[in-house]
Order: sequence, then C-alpha cells, then structure tokens
Amino acid sequence: MNFTGRLQFRRLMCLIVRQNFTSDCEHAINKQIHLELKSSYNYLAMAYHFDRSDVALPGLYGFFKAASSEEREHATKFMEYLNKRGGTICLEALPAPEFEFTTAKAALIEALDMEKTVNESLLSLHALANKHNDAHLSDFIETHFLVEQVDAQKELADYITQIERCEKELGLHIFDNDLKGKDLH
Ligand SMILES: [Fe+2]
Repeated sequence: MNFTGRLQFRRLMCLIVRQNFTSDCEHAINKQIHLELKSSYNYLAMAYHFDRSDVALPGLYGFFKAASSEEREHATKFMEYLNKRGGTICLEALPAPEFEFTTAKAALIEALDMEKTVNESLLSLHALANKHNDAHLSDFIETHFLVEQVDAQKELADYITQIERCEKELGLHIFDNDLKGKDLH
C-alpha cells in the first residue's frame, strides 16, 4: 500500500471511533495545536536569550523555559484529544520567532500578548464546539485550558507591574519582597 493509500486507510479506521465530531472542530483543533507549538517555540527563544552571558538573567531563563515546556504539553494534550475523537493530526511548519528582546519588561509584554492570542483562539474553539453541540470538546477546553489561561495572564500582568516598579522604585520592590512571610509582632 502506498503512502496515500495508508493515509486513507488510517482515516477510515479513525471513523470507527468518530462520533459527533465535525471536520470544523477537527480543523480548529489542528490550528490550536499549531498556535501552542508556536508559543512553545517563541518561549524557547526568549529563554535562551536570557541565558546569554551578556544578558545573564537566570530567573527569566528558567521562567520562559518552563513556559515553553508548558505550551508543548498543551499541544500534545490537543494531539491526544484529536486521536481520541478520531481526528487526523496535521502538523505544519513553525515560523521563526520574530521578537526583538531589548528588555525583560518587553519580553514579558510580548508573552502577555501571546497568551491573549492563545486565549482568543481557545474561546473561539469553545464557541465552535458549542455551535456544533460538541459537549465533550467544550468540557475538555473548560477543564484543561480556560482557567489556567486566565491565571497565566494574571501572573504575567503582575510581573509586568512588578518589573515596572523595579525600574522606577527598586527599593520598594526589595522592601516588599523582604516582607514576604513576616508578620507584625
Ligand atoms: Fe497554551
């Protein structure tokens, strides 16, 4: 059997498990996988920028490296889901990261913008699932992605506020940091 034949056979086999899963949703999940992998790739570029010897910010390096792994995990979660529903995974080439990292604050702002784009896409996917009465897909997105996404955006917004304070009021930031875990006697 040639490659096309094998692909058609695999698709036919997938149809056995397929139920109430539209090609619209299948296509949108593939787009989401691409977006998650693109985010992972971008975070990886950010991480290794902060690891350079002339930048040397290990906290940001570790933070962005973990974010990259997290996004890859999101992509694989959607890949597993597609297989479970009898869809076909279609991976595409990833674009090279295009950011110009001038400051840590700029990188965090880029990260927040990126997360908002991902969240917009998740919300569209959720709306599409509802439109097609695909309760399983709606529940999957709500359970595994929506809450976490908003938490991540709040976390990044907090870091942007804190880094702005560092730029202008480093003393206040250090003081505030020192207060952690202390109580009034
Ligand atoms: Fe994600």
